[in-house]
Amino acid sequence: MKTLLKTTLLCLAALVAPGLRAAEDILIADFEGTNYGSWKTTGEAFGPGPARGTLPGQMRVDGFKGRGLVSSFHKGDGSTGTLTSPEFQIDRKFISFLIGGGKDAEKTCMNLLVEGKVVRVATGPNDRPGGSEALAPDAWDVGEFAGKTAVLQIVDQAKGGWGHINVDQIAQSDRRPPRLMANAKREFKIGQRYLNIPIKNGVPTRKVTTLVDGRAEVVNDIGLANGEPDWWAPMDVGAWRGKTVTLQVDKLSEDSTALSSIVPSDTIKGAENLYREPLRGQFHFSPQRGWNNDPNGLVWFNGEYHLFFQHNPYGWGWGNMHWGHAVSRDLIHWEELGDVIAPDSFGPMFSGSAVVDSRNTSGLGKDGKPPLVLIYTAAGNPSVQCIASSTDGRTFTKYAGNPVVKQVTGGNRDPKVFWHGPTRKWVMVLYVELKKVHTIHFFTSPNLRDWTLASITEGDPDGKGFLFECPDFFELPVDGDAAKAKWVLTAANSEYAVGTFDGVRFTMEHKKLPGHRGRGFYAAQTFSDIPARDGRRIQIGWFQTETKGMPFNQAMTIPLELKLTATPEGPRLTMNPVRELAALRGKSHRFDGVTLQVGGANPLAGVSAELVELQAEFEPGDAGEVTFTVRGATIGYSGARQELSVNGHRVPAPLRAGQQRLTIFCDRTGLEVFASDGLAYVPMPFQPKADDLALAVQAKSGGIRFIRLEAHELISAWNRP
Ligand code: FRU
Repeated sequence: MKTLLKTTLLCLAALVAPGLRAAEDILIADFEGTNYGSWKTTGEAFGPGPARGTLPGQMRVDGFKGRGLVSSFHKGDGSTGTLTSPEFQIDRKFISFLIGGGKDAEKTCMNLLVEGKVVRVATGPNDRPGGSEALAPDAWDVGEFAGKTAVLQIVDQAKGGWGHINVDQIAQSDRRPPRLMANAKREFKIGQRYLNIPIKNGVPTRKVTTLVDGRAEVVNDIGLANGEPDWWAPMDVGAWRGKTVTLQVDKLSEDSTALSSIVPSDTIKGAENLYREPLRGQFHFSPQRGWNNDPNGLVWFNGEYHLFFQHNPYGWGWGNMHWGHAVSRDLIHWEELGDVIAPDSFGPMFSGSAVVDSRNTSGLGKDGKPPLVLIYTAAGNPSVQCIASSTDGRTFTKYAGNPVVKQVTGGNRDPKVFWHGPTRKWVMVLYVELKKVHTIHFFTSPNLRDWTLASITEGDPDGKGFLFECPDFFELPVDGDAAKAKWVLTAANSEYAVGTFDGVRFTMEHKKLPGHRGRGFYAAQTFSDIPARDGRRIQIGWFQTETKGMPFNQAMTIPLELKLTATPEGPRLTMNPVRELAALRGKSHRFDGVTLQVGGANPLAGVSAELVELQAEFEPGDAGEVTFTVRGATIGYSGARQELSVNGHRVPAPLRAGQQRLTIFCDRTGLEVFASDGLAYVPMPFQPKADDLALAVQAKSGGIRFIRLEAHELISAWNRP
């Protein structure tokens, strides 16, 4: 009893000194005013007063208290200056503050000066590209300067990357702020599939190492919640049942609840609400938890479509690149499986493709089963191309002989591979920046393991080299005529070129052409190995739909069928929704044959729907103008201008033999509008108001006759058939 009391008192004494009762904290500055008050600036970096959060051009700033903070990002990283406090007396044992930004103890720092001499220095955490603008708590023990007069000086003398500093909430206190522990750990004997990890968005990330029976398997950067999390990230540990998994955090505040609150479970926390979250796209794929960007490894294998994707399982923003995995039998209903490849000593798992090696050229097949081979970028330094394989489409093994393509130049990435029948070789298109020009390198291989450089694109006839990131390359018939087939090379922004390919070299026949005409569509890829009896070229893009407040972020577009159609200017890509989407139609409303007059009754007045597909075929004539309203979004077509507008974003959409056919899909996070038989595809992130379910169509001029007008109420794709 006595010893217990003694230990308790000792602990208290360590936290509260001197004496047992802590004096009140003394606020030095909270930077909530419109100017710096009696603090003095030099230079321009600190601006006229405290920043209100993130400044223009800055990554998102988090972790400050109240509304204002010191930021030396005024005029960007290039500006310099200092901010100096008035003199104050040191009256408490500690000075605590929040700090973020650059990590340079001379150039981006906060100094404590006593008697004109720097006695303490603090910096932000960042000294390389990437990182976080978040401010984190820090403190100095200043007991030895009790009673002395001091000055704080915030310094920004750096001009390059991370050439700024963020500071807030400076106070004197007798309470020792919690210390950061190095390599805090918790062990789990694995009996269940997941460890649910508490996540707080925007806090500084920590390096979390997953060790299995003492061996480090993977390191992730995770923003751990101390206290109430924003959401829980399930770490899939199913493969390690019966083993001991240790999570080790490089730096953790000694008062943090992050490790102690991790929940082992067979389900992911929040599963009862899964796919019913208010901002969950209902017919657009999004990951259960975390962030997605590019679709990867789109492939048809053993009767299933596979969608792999760039996945951050442990963050709401980009990072920790894994390949997520989902499968579908119809392109519409997706089942998410666990991640298949995780960051390793070669780096994070960046984008790439998948092929079925049906001839087992790689030798990676087993028991007569052909392998499904993933070809991906391991984006470390150097940045290399690697492969992984599976015979069941579920478990993937990285190839022991990786990498299969060495670095050409830093940042080379995004291999897309296909089998070229005429030359009986695998071909890889790879994005490579060469002498500041974006190029595509073509490699060939007999076996997916040994690759030889075959050719390099010379860039767009414009000379700018438009082919940035995530190339895709495929052959398409023109107007269905295989004898007139052409090759199409696409880039991440969906611009493309049409030309010919001899198995070695691509010859472009046009200047670059625009792909999609909307916003928030990127890094699309087409499926490999779709059976010849189907013969379609199907594409999915990353749909950049931000979902604030949700435990997931971003999505995929609906699957699109690509074709080449002859136009007077040459063959052009068309993008149309795949026919499988019709499976989502619930109640349908048809108003074929109506003619709309200006100010006439709205034929769609009786229809209300949350998830919508609208189809309209009409002859607007030269003067006709028509406007559709779908849950607050405005989609207009002008016959005079032959122009489509989606929420004010205007794009050319030619009439086809005097007619226009529009298809509009509306989900909880975005619109996808198709016009001119697929020549104008307009994806558009958009969040309708939950209670606005109205649809309308109005003629702005002339009498417009609708050959077809259909509104379909869609059912959620997460309701499995
Ligand atoms: C495109 C991209 C790719 C890269 C991946 C990393 O969005 O930058 O080039 O492989 O994202 O997540």
